Amino acid sequence: MSSPLKVFITGASSGIGLALAAEYARRGAVLGLVARRGDALAAFQRSHPQNSISTYCVDVRDAEALAEAAAQFIAQHGLPDIVIANAGVSRGAVTGEGDLRTFREVMDINYFGMVAIFEPFAAAMVAARRGMLVGIASVAGVRGLPGSGAYSASKCARTASAWSPSRPAISARR
Ligand SMILES: NC(=O)c1ccc[n+]([C@@H]2O[C@H](COP(=O)([O-])OP(=O)(O)OC[C@H]3O[C@@H](n4cnc5c(N)ncnc54)[C@H](OP(=O)(O)O)[C@@H]3O)[C@@H](O)[C@H]2O)c1
Repeated sequence: MSSPLKVFITGASSGIGLALAAEYARRGAVLGLVARRGDALAAFQRSHPQNSISTYCVDVRDAEALAEAAAQFIAQHGLPDIVIANAGVSRGAVTGEGDLRTFREVMDINYFGMVAIFEPFAAAMVAARRGMLVGIASVAGVRGLPGSGAYSASKCARTASAWSPSRPAISARR
């Protein structure tokens, strides 16, 4: 009997991340789920008693806490087959309106949050010669959306980064 798929997802408390978690749970996957709303992750875990699910109440801006969550997942379940950097925020911010704080915040969550969750898994995936790193992108990253300079830039950075994996053994998906 083949072992179940292991999937690690950030931003799994709502929206696309929650939907991905539900679909992989339906397929019998072992899940590692990250978000700040631990109550939502706990509710998902309770509603899927047939699955092996580990939850991590972590802000993706906290790279150390993400690395710790990744290490715990690997120790408990082994290397994931798929890591999905989904956590993201969309905040309106326009160049020239003096909102540098929003630009930094969106970049921290949407771009550096992706780098920070790939980092603790990438070397082990290269060593194992298997694994997939997935970053959820947006059409906003292809051509900036009006009024969404910060969001568009963060998604553009995600896409460019995913297209330039540093090691050929890892496949990257937008
Ligand atoms: N919806 C769309 O039409 C669309 C289109 C293109 C791309 N996307 C992308 O798809 C992804 C998910 O979007 P969505 O529409 O599903 O949004 P959503 O329902 O608001 O979900 C966002 C998820 O990200 C998590 N998150 C946000 N900030 C976080 C942080 N600092 N640390 C940890 N987790 C954080 C949230 O959890 P907590 O609040 O519990 O932390 C939540 O689980 C995003 O990257 C978004 O840019 C969405």
